[in-house]
Amino acid sequence: MEIDYSKRSFSYYPTNAIVYATCIDGKWSAPVVTNDFNLSLHCFAGVFHYASCCFEGLKVFRGVDGRVRMFRPDENQKRMKSGADYLDMPAPPMDLFMDMCIRCVQENWEYIPPYESASASLYLRPVLFGYNPQLGIHSADDAMFVVMASGVGTYSGAKSLMPGTAVISRNYDRAATFGSGGYKLGANYAQSLHAYNIAHRLGYRELLFLDSATHTHIEEFGSSNFFAIKGNSYITPDSSSVLPSITNKSLRKVAEEFGLKVERRTVYVEELESFDEVNSCGTAVVITPICRIDDKPALEDGTVTREFKYADECGPVSRKLYDRIIGIQKGLEEDTYGWCTFINEH
Ligand code: PLP
Ligand code: COI
Repeated sequence: MEIDYSKRSFSYYPTNAIVYATCIDGKWSAPVVTNDFNLSLHCFAGVFHYASCCFEGLKVFRGVDGRVRMFRPDENQKRMKSGADYLDMPAPPMDLFMDMCIRCVQENWEYIPPYESASASLYLRPVLFGYNPQLGIHSADDAMFVVMASGVGTYSGAKSLMPGTAVISRNYDRAATFGSGGYKLGANYAQSLHAYNIAHRLGYRELLFLDSATHTHIEEFGSSNFFAIKGNSYITPDSSSVLPSITNKSLRKVAEEFGLKVERRTVYVEELESFDEVNSCGTAVVITPICRIDDKPALEDGTVTREFKYADECGPVSRKLYDRIIGIQKGLEEDTYGWCTFINEH
């Protein structure tokens, strides 16, 4: 049956198979491909208690030339390794990480959306977690690494580049100043779930987190990094508690290519008034324009103290950046930086 990817959002959709490997006593097993998505885990495994878990997200596209491309997987391995090092647990080495991602794509080949399905992709979710039974508080000695896939549409389910609203989170922080925000740990997302539920109930698409120490500068959205355009500048927060986004890193390169001045620095909440274009960026959201940001003393509070308004459509500079990134991912533009890994069916 033909899949209508235009009706899909960013969700779990069944595929054929997952690929997993385990690291026991410091030795990684060969990858196993299975169509059984129910893993067998010991209930004392560290992941269930002390959240020894980090994960990644990357996209696979079918290009205009029919060839299949995976976007910057090496960056995902490096970030997963940094998260695993932070958790003091084993990480899959580069060759294993790449092999398993490629294998997962090959096993789910028919779920790679056709080129014509504009913003759809096969999203890969590599997950690493503590595997051995334990009780005391310590890092996991053994790990399981799983790569799974879902054929997804846009993050919001709406058309790509459709602007959304955001609310500043003043009474819920995502990451502590000297905490784990700079790593893609499952635990960081757990911290945002309750606040997200409130924001979503109030109709906001996104939550904008501030630095936890002073609540004066912008960190990032719950799902993605923050960037703004002001005149000829591309402005994005520089903070060790912000996740180093691979999309943002790529956009900064493209911005330089377009002659924009890239400013990676502390970004104050007050500056929101002066920006021409405000966006969230990340693998799942790609670039999603923000048309309004509300500031409230508390999410649950009915009063909005300040409202920052932007255009109801994607700004021209952000659109240009979007077209270049998508162009590279879908083979419409030259991949000057060698960001794409090509995958053959077998
Ligand atoms: N920030 C957060 C909190 C995220 O969840 C993500 C998504 O992965 C990003 C930023 C963007 O990172 P990337 O562009 O590597 O997907
Ligand atoms: C991604 O963009 O890959 C993420 O993991 C973000 C998440 C909110 C889906």
